[in-house]
Amino acid sequence: MRVILGVGGGIAAYKSCVLASSLVKAGHDVYAVMTESATQFVGPLTFRALTGNPVGVYIADEPMGPLSHVKLAHWAHALIVAPLTQDLLARLSLGLSSDLLGLVFQGFSGPSLMAPAMESEMWFSPQTRNRLDELKTEREITLVGPNTGRLASGLTGSGRMAEPEEIMEGLWMMLRPKTLQGRSVLITAGPTWEHFDPVRILTNPSTGIIGSLLARELSARGAEVRVIHGPRVEEKPCPRVQYVGVVSAVEMLEAVRHYIDQVDTVIGAAAVSDFRPLHPCLQKQKKQHIDLNWAMKTNPDIMGEIGTKYRHSKVLIGFAAETDNVIVAARDKLQRKHLDAIIANQVGTDSGFGEGQYKAAIIGSDDDAVDLHIMTKDQLASQVADLLSVLKPKQGIQADV
Ligand code: C5P
Repeated sequence: MRVILGVGGGIAAYKSCVLASSLVKAGHDVYAVMTESATQFVGPLTFRALTGNPVGVYIADEPMGPLSHVKLAHWAHALIVAPLTQDLLARLSLGLSSDLLGLVFQGFSGPSLMAPAMESEMWFSPQTRNRLDELKTEREITLVGPNTGRLASGLTGSGRMAEPEEIMEGLWMMLRPKTLQGRSVLITAGPTWEHFDPVRILTNPSTGIIGSLLARELSARGAEVRVIHGPRVEEKPCPRVQYVGVVSAVEMLEAVRHYIDQVDTVIGAAAVSDFRPLHPCLQKQKKQHIDLNWAMKTNPDIMGEIGTKYRHSKVLIGFAAETDNVIVAARDKLQRKHLDAIIANQVGTDSGFGEGQYKAAIIGSDDDAVDLHIMTKDQLASQVADLLSVLKPKQGIQADV
């Protein structure tokens, strides 16, 4: 993507150097445009070196050749302003174009991300509120931060510029196509734990990463997302997602039943334990006395139940983690559980779980020939989001079972 990084004159400008570097590392083409006061905190040469592109400050500067303000405004996919100082906010919202950043902002019609940074009193002042309201009603603005913490004055309060990684995440969110606006999705994720006693469990190596990445992607596309996840899920909690933690398969089923009426789509990404101890003990069992033939009971099949009951009223997507005959086994589950699509994925000791390589195929109910492909889990999440934009919500009545 082509990004303009507008840098305002505040001490947080030093963090914008890290941001410039992160943007470039993520593959973006970046032009930095600084206010005059920003150059008192960080030199233009720093941004020149980090972005590899000339830096503009004044109206007459030509980082992109003659008429740079017009060229930059037409060139960019996104504009970031970090730090957004109170003075810069006022100037941008009033449409003042006394420097290159003001000019570029007036000419730019795409999405802007603003990361405010100022003392608390300034952030909460009526002037700031008014300027911000005005800007947000007139322009497509995403605000990231400010955070609460130690401010330049040494006082603690709201007004710290968001960290570069939060701004990167905000930019990513802002630029995702909003193809799932109005959709509501329930995702099961991670493993379940089935207790034998308080210190012994039956579980599997699932980390819940797929479920978390799906939640992040679908919410960035505009969907409302709730994740029902098992214990120890390595999720990067996404502020736009609702999380419900459970332990066992039975608890997961109860949670799914509880929330299902609120959604049009269910994605079963959890690796649910197939069995649980028939008689779990409340006290730790001494190992000398443990019966190695501990009686087990089959767990409820959550997606199986949901498929039987909701196949006509909800979009249902499952996962099938298999070591062999992956596609055949996945197709069988697709039909047996009445799903609209299933993600077949190969699991083994070095693939499938956690950060390992991911080999998968998305199979729809009408798909004939499909092959497994190596992909990242991010790519899979994006492909599932594309599929969901095609699988529209169903209007059918739920089965009475
Ligand atoms: O474990 P299995 O391969 O049958 O999983 C296929 C799909 O069914 C997955 O989407 C999984 O989340 C779901 N499932 C479930 N409840 C179970 C077992 C599997 O919801 N008890």
